[in-house]
Amino acid sequence: MHYQTLAPFPPGFLWGASTSAYQVEGAWNEDGKGPSVIDRAQFAPELSDFTVTSDHYHRFAGDIALFAELGLKTYRFSIAWSRLYPDGDGELNPQGVAFYQRLIDEIRRHGIEPLVTLYHFDLPWALQLQGGWSNPRTIAAFERFARTAFELFGDRVNFWLTINEQNMMILKGDVIGTLPPGTPDPQKTLYQQNHHMMLAQARAMIACHELLPSAKIGPAPNISCVYPASSRPEDVIAANNYSSIRNWLYLDLACHGRYNALAWRFMAEKGYLPSITAQDLDLLAQGRPDFIAFNYYASTTVAADAPRENAAAQRAREIEDQQLPGMDSAVYIGADNPHLEHNQFGWYIDPVGLRVTCREIYERYHLPLIVTENGLGAFDKLTAGNKIHDDDRIRYLSDHIRQLQLAITDGVALFGYCPWSAIDLVSTHQGISKRYGFVYVNRDEHDLKDLARHRKKSFFWYQRLIKANGQRLETDIEY
Ligand code: BG6
Repeated sequence: MHYQTLAPFPPGFLWGASTSAYQVEGAWNEDGKGPSVIDRAQFAPELSDFTVTSDHYHRFAGDIALFAELGLKTYRFSIAWSRLYPDGDGELNPQGVAFYQRLIDEIRRHGIEPLVTLYHFDLPWALQLQGGWSNPRTIAAFERFARTAFELFGDRVNFWLTINEQNMMILKGDVIGTLPPGTPDPQKTLYQQNHHMMLAQARAMIACHELLPSAKIGPAPNISCVYPASSRPEDVIAANNYSSIRNWLYLDLACHGRYNALAWRFMAEKGYLPSITAQDLDLLAQGRPDFIAFNYYASTTVAADAPRENAAAQRAREIEDQQLPGMDSAVYIGADNPHLEHNQFGWYIDPVGLRVTCREIYERYHLPLIVTENGLGAFDKLTAGNKIHDDDRIRYLSDHIRQLQLAITDGVALFGYCPWSAIDLVSTHQGISKRYGFVYVNRDEHDLKDLARHRKKSFFWYQRLIKANGQRLETDIEY
């Protein structure tokens, strides 16, 4: 649809930016923090580990001052579960509590609204040793952790997110380090874990409404529209299949408290069905989100089948990256999209897909939306005068924000946008050289250098855009 005039971003729109605890904090074993699954996972040795990352734990005051200068209205960050409960479910760690008290106070002092993710990939290792999400006791541990966070910080936090990208942990847990290698019968195990996470999420949403009646809480999956590789009806069915398996399974459970019919048939057909009880269904029906947060990096394209000689290449793509669909022959097969460009890491760039995704989610669930991740990973270079000319990022963000304005004009109730990431941090599986931030952190994969912070060109561009409440989309800016 083409419009004569576009609706403006609403007043009070939450312009923000995001991080996650394990990717930005460092201090992985300091002040009583317990290890998480990420601290025990194996990643490529040539890449940075997660022990120091951006050292935000020690430098948060300076970082928050920079976010305030950037003009952020909200800052999305996560609480490291094993910093509060080193064993996941034992004694509360007072030093962990003190850290998040200081962090939240600092954020509020600068007039920024905290947007808190309870759990972003970093399950406490002690719980993993007892079966992790396969063990139903983890559900109660998560509820306890969530209740603690609501009680401790609820007087200063109005917006909560339950679980970051639960769908990616199920679909690509081996890539992001949340599925231990050698897990027997991985698919069936994962769908049982998914069910337990859904129950945990429902309990957290119920607890939030009970303890903090004026706060708002929502899920935070990674949702992307799925295109058929062609107008062939079989390809359209494949796209439908993948959309249910990748997207709607997670949001139907979170918002309607029921399993998506097609995803259920898929699990039945493959022998992946989780065991569930009648009480589980009651619980799922009671847990209601106030809004939907979602992460979007690019659209996905699938076909019904692919020439045989491509099968091995497809399989390699599937293993390699969380943003690629991969394949499940007879259900969907990842396909190329000749209409889209790639970034330096092979991820597609599809701003229009963000508008499509907003429309699809809003039409299905009629809940307010906030984008909690979107951004360009790139090999940014520090140049003379500590300058970082990240013009590609500016273009990426501008193009996506333009599509958001179109989505708002389409009638979608969007209340915020938080690009990934506020500051450079360590990527899930591609090191610190894959940078996303508005603020550059001076370190390499293994050389920590001075960890100094430098404002990138995109910092000044986003600052101007926020000041104009989204009306300054032009990409040129003096730097
Ligand atoms: C999402 C995650 O998958 O995408 C983030 O929520 C992650 O934790 C981001 O960093 C970008 O992915 P990557 O693999 O480039 O770090």
